[in-house]
Amino acid sequence: MKIAIVGLGFVGLSLAVVLASKNKSVIGIDIDEEKCKKIRDTTIPFYEPGLKNILKTGLKKNLIISNDFSLIKNCDMIFVTVGTPQKSNGEIELAMIKKATSTIGKFLKKNKNKPIIFIKSTVIPGTIQDVIVPILEKNSGKKNNNDFGIISNPEFLQESNAIHDTKFPHAIVLGGEDTKFMKRAERFFSKMFSGVPIIKTNYQSAEMIKYANNSFLATKITFINQLSNICQSIPGSNIDDIARGIGLDPRIGKLFLNAGPGYGGSCLPKDMKALINFSESIGITPTLLNAVEKTNRDQINNIISLLKKKLGSLSGKKITILGTSFKPNTDDIRDSKSIELIKKLLNNNAKITAHDPKALKNTKKIFNQKIKYENSMIDALDTSQCAIIMTHWKEYDGLNDALLRKMKRKFIIDCRRVLVNKKLDVQYYAIGVGEKI
Ligand code: UGA
Repeated sequence: MKIAIVGLGFVGLSLAVVLASKNKSVIGIDIDEEKCKKIRDTTIPFYEPGLKNILKTGLKKNLIISNDFSLIKNCDMIFVTVGTPQKSNGEIELAMIKKATSTIGKFLKKNKNKPIIFIKSTVIPGTIQDVIVPILEKNSGKKNNNDFGIISNPEFLQESNAIHDTKFPHAIVLGGEDTKFMKRAERFFSKMFSGVPIIKTNYQSAEMIKYANNSFLATKITFINQLSNICQSIPGSNIDDIARGIGLDPRIGKLFLNAGPGYGGSCLPKDMKALINFSESIGITPTLLNAVEKTNRDQINNIISLLKKKLGSLSGKKITILGTSFKPNTDDIRDSKSIELIKKLLNNNAKITAHDPKALKNTKKIFNQKIKYENSMIDALDTSQCAIIMTHWKEYDGLNDALLRKMKRKFIIDCRRVLVNKKLDVQYYAIGVGEKI
């Protein structure tokens, strides 16, 4: 059996290496030849723990990386994993998936294997039926559910945990009609990921499951963030204790209750906006989702307000940002709350120094000379008037009085409560922790 994966971002590359590690013959295809070359040299264009090693093994055995779409013609399964970013109005951008599927369609003409085409890219309900099926049928001259089978197969992996999540998914969603292709898909997944529940449904529901999943996670995070703002005004209270207390209720669950500066990344913000946009386009006002979005935006303003309350004008003041990636163990800064905070601080004429164990290179691409970058924590903190912990990198657990000694004003805003249990000689404020009386 030959499997092609089209689009080699986090999802596509992780799937390619994991399927190769399960002894499948895999062809990873991407339109970007430069990117393909780098991946063949195991120079992955992003940081993802564990990916490099498994990629190396795959490349020595049964994994091919290429920009040649014609390789699709011998495949039995084709996974589409190209990005579906957002337009400036929040609407989903389908240009890439349209292009990828029309190219796939052309090579399907010559494919005699009756392949299954899995759509992993996140798309708004109705997109597969109304856009992707017609593109593939027109370009191939063949019929869905007869000459090939299109199946929606949304992805739930988390960046920084991509290999683990790909190897051990919590569920597999298969959307499409009950055809021989669906039966084959089900057999394939139950063999590959034995014991993992498979949810079979139609295209629209499968597409919606992905948005429901991400918007629920965004709502859960926002709920705890809202409570953390209330806790901040309850002297002595700590949001983490409240999260632990409610998290033990199995109806709530303990994950995704870490209060912070708001959710970021390339997925939750984009998918929330796309769902809101879609909902409005069909005449439904998504009151709750709108409130989540707004609350998430306001979270950064709360940090700025606290800063101003303590420092007065921010003009000319040196502020150190600890962590620019949208979460730890990644160099991804897309829609990172840190980046948003830095932009707002620059608007207030503050002088910014950024520290991050992995993401400084990407941060530089945005701010160039507008801010300073330091690889060492002690240098980043030198003469600073406030340090703001934005991302919970494990390095920040080690912050102590010795590392903080060069600060001009020993003042910390801890958005992740990394130092909450430490006795430090600093003025300390943590998101979600009420000041002691
Ligand atoms: C998210 C979903 O979690 C995945 O299931 C989904 O597959 C993926 O989007 C996608 O659609 O591709 P990811 O973007 O990697 O995954 O990021 P998350 O781990 O969900 O974190 C998102 C943001 O929420 C980060 O800024 C993180 O710091 C924040 N967060 C998360 C919190 O502030 N508190 C929490 O308790 C959890």
